[in-house]
Amino acid sequence: MNTHRYRSAGLTLAALLPLFALAAERQSINDGWRFQRGDPQGYAAQLQYDVRPEIKQSADGKVADARPDEAEKVQRSAEGLLKPWILPSGNALVADPARRAQRPAADPAVSPPLLRADFDEHDWRAVTLPHDWAIEGPFLATGPYGGMGRLQTWGPAWYRKKLDIPARDKGKSIFLDIDGAMSHASVWLNGRLVGGWPYGYNSFRLDLTPYATPGGVNQLAIRLDNPAESARWYPGAGLYRNVWLTVADPVHVAHWGTVVRTPQVSREAAQVELAVTVDNDGKDAAALDVSTQLYALDDNGKRTGAAVATLPAQRVSVNARGSATVNASARVAQPRLWGPLPQQRPNRYLAVTTVSRNGKVVDSQETPFGIRSLRFDANEGLFVNGEKIMINGVNNHHDLGALGAAFNVRAAERQLQILQEMGANAVRMSHNPPSPELLELTDRMGILVMDEVFDSWERKKTPLDFHLIFPDWHEQDLRAMLRRDRNHPSIIMWSVGNEVGEQYTGDAGAAIGRKLVSIAHEEDPTRPATGAMNYAKSDMPLPGTVDVISLNYQGAGIRSLPGQFPNFHQKFPDKMILSTESASALSSRGEYQFPVPGVISAPVRPGAGGDPKRQQVSAYELFAADFGSSADRSWAAQDQNPYVAGEFVWTGFDYLGEPTPYYGARSSYSGIVDLAGFPKDRYYLYQSRWRPDLPIAHLLPHWTWPERVGEVTPVHLFTSGDEAELFVNGKSQGRRKKAPYEYRLRWDYVVYEPGEISVVAYKDGKEWARSSVKTAQAAAMLEAKADRSTIAADGQDLSFITVRVTDAGGTTAPRADQRIRFTVEGPGELVATDNGDPTNLESFQSPERAAFNGLVLAIVRARPGQRGAITVRASAEGLRGTEVQLRSK
Ligand code: GAL
Repeated sequence: MNTHRYRSAGLTLAALLPLFALAAERQSINDGWRFQRGDPQGYAAQLQYDVRPEIKQSADGKVADARPDEAEKVQRSAEGLLKPWILPSGNALVADPARRAQRPAADPAVSPPLLRADFDEHDWRAVTLPHDWAIEGPFLATGPYGGMGRLQTWGPAWYRKKLDIPARDKGKSIFLDIDGAMSHASVWLNGRLVGGWPYGYNSFRLDLTPYATPGGVNQLAIRLDNPAESARWYPGAGLYRNVWLTVADPVHVAHWGTVVRTPQVSREAAQVELAVTVDNDGKDAAALDVSTQLYALDDNGKRTGAAVATLPAQRVSVNARGSATVNASARVAQPRLWGPLPQQRPNRYLAVTTVSRNGKVVDSQETPFGIRSLRFDANEGLFVNGEKIMINGVNNHHDLGALGAAFNVRAAERQLQILQEMGANAVRMSHNPPSPELLELTDRMGILVMDEVFDSWERKKTPLDFHLIFPDWHEQDLRAMLRRDRNHPSIIMWSVGNEVGEQYTGDAGAAIGRKLVSIAHEEDPTRPATGAMNYAKSDMPLPGTVDVISLNYQGAGIRSLPGQFPNFHQKFPDKMILSTESASALSSRGEYQFPVPGVISAPVRPGAGGDPKRQQVSAYELFAADFGSSADRSWAAQDQNPYVAGEFVWTGFDYLGEPTPYYGARSSYSGIVDLAGFPKDRYYLYQSRWRPDLPIAHLLPHWTWPERVGEVTPVHLFTSGDEAELFVNGKSQGRRKKAPYEYRLRWDYVVYEPGEISVVAYKDGKEWARSSVKTAQAAAMLEAKADRSTIAADGQDLSFITVRVTDAGGTTAPRADQRIRFTVEGPGELVATDNGDPTNLESFQSPERAAFNGLVLAIVRARPGQRGAITVRASAEGLRGTEVQLRSK
């Protein structure tokens, strides 16, 4: 990740220090936008990126592992469409000059009035970025929209803003840096089409210089146009990540222009190599000096102490309109290595590069990085800095639950903290590049990452997905991810695709795989490239093209096939194998259904794990998608094949969309944690395996079943111990021990009576942990707890407040569904509420929401710039209300 100096309000560093610090200024331009949905009348057709195939309304709920089909047929007449002006925006990422697109000589003929500076925008909405316009809903209660989260994300939308480009920026290079725009962005400045980017998940830079008027009015207008039926999950919509304006000397470090590598690493010393690419947008050749110093960063990312190494200064000459790369290296003695928690520490360094011309600094660049070594062993798995690390990972989509796709650092950090507390040490960015700040977090928090670029190549999964632009954009999009992300120490490997249709197309598919893998190697020879496979068998062509064998579900056996780990291990004795998707176990938090089958893993069926009427899945954590398996069964497969390097569970958090098996719902059932961030029972199952030293004993179900007195009500225990004795109202139900490849203890014939169940767990014969669950009395009051009680008054920072319905004694009422109302007093505001119920179709903006099995969440932020005490009150009819105090500072 590259960072530039920030322009501070009003005063620029350049103004303070005329001779130095002419570093590129990277200014956040998230504030002060106007937004409107829809195209002006009569312009829609000409404003499209490209012709879109006509699609018939397709059915919802296509099975996730269904075979992708052939590309949609498109009538390729680009007449009047914007593609010819947008394609050149990717040119810097096209290796072969002959493949780079030429901008047409004339501008496109279309020119709607909203491009003009004097356009009357008073009825447009004022918005601050990151902004996801679709998350407000309303939810589409009927129709085939479950797959994309029952929220309308499709259709054109516009954003406008006047840019502040002062006269002193004349002669500078001026760039717009967009971290992600969903999707098919076309960007216009002062009425002219600058360019754009179709794929919604990548970051991109556009050169505004030829279109900008320093000192004058600079009207920016951005059109986005998500297709319907373009995703298998909720994509979000809008300018949903950060947007920056970068002003640089014509001679500057290129976009994503620094590359750090650490080819030799030991405890004694590390070799750090840095390549710096400098662009010269000016009219004259420039002789430059490039120098870099390396500093240690502390845990908060602050530079500490004096430089730990200085790279030899380099002299380079860059032609007018050209660029040049210099390479230098240095030795860092006794390096503090980067490694994943909890086994290692995520120590980081910072490379500070300055580019000077005739003794004056023209640009500087800060590149955070880590020193670490990776080894991918076919028999023993992953090694970081020489130490074996089992990959205990999860998959996550990019949405942040009730906040939608709009990126928020605190919301993302909270997700990672919840996962780390469970014992996760890795995340797969399924199935697209994340926000850059998320990778800052994984670097800082010591979490391993698989960074992934595509969910489809030439063959499609949904009619209007990425496959339509793959032929034109795969190289640019793949290189964009690799160049942006390759300095992050947390990333251990690249994935060029997920379950692509090319698994089924033999050598033709493999040829595409080979091409993508070779691009990955070109941009980054230090990490392996892989692709997740759910169908390919070891003797098919595609697996031969990737460096690491990544199997989705096949390890545990999917459909009627036996597990494929041994076949692949035999066929590829030099390639590491891991499970890129495991489990796809399904459940709704706090929902228990009876009878409970005596099996360890089963597909969800009506009356056996699933309730189609209520659209809920039992939380006994035995049930899975048809091609998936319970956690227990995937672990048995891994443990029986100990060369497997670990897993990424499908998924860490519930996400919007893909609500298998009930497509009337809004969000998935696969999360270990629900959409609101409340752990399901499964959380403790993973914790019991991933944190074996944490003495836990988690009992399920809850014990408030007035209608079940005298009925068999099985009790399961998730424990890091190996043995346990269960008691119902003090009467022993027997002591049980885990057998080999067993990961839970269960008492299948317990007869329900109100009171208390309790358990004593043992490890190696010694007492290890205890816990109990009591029958709740009538719901009587609310209890609230904020995850953080002091928040920054920056309009971004958040407090997540959990409200629990309890009886008079404080025991959670585990089936409570009272409506709870939130009010906020003081300089704060309610951002959203949720309860984690996948079937809840109330707007996330609603200040009132029914508890789902006893819990509700409120998300609160401080008003920007306003300090003080914030009171959040929760009330419900017939219950004693409560409040929490927050401070904004
Ligand atoms: C996989 C797929 C994921 C998701 C998952 C659902 O086949 O790669 O994106 O669809 O199934 O369980």
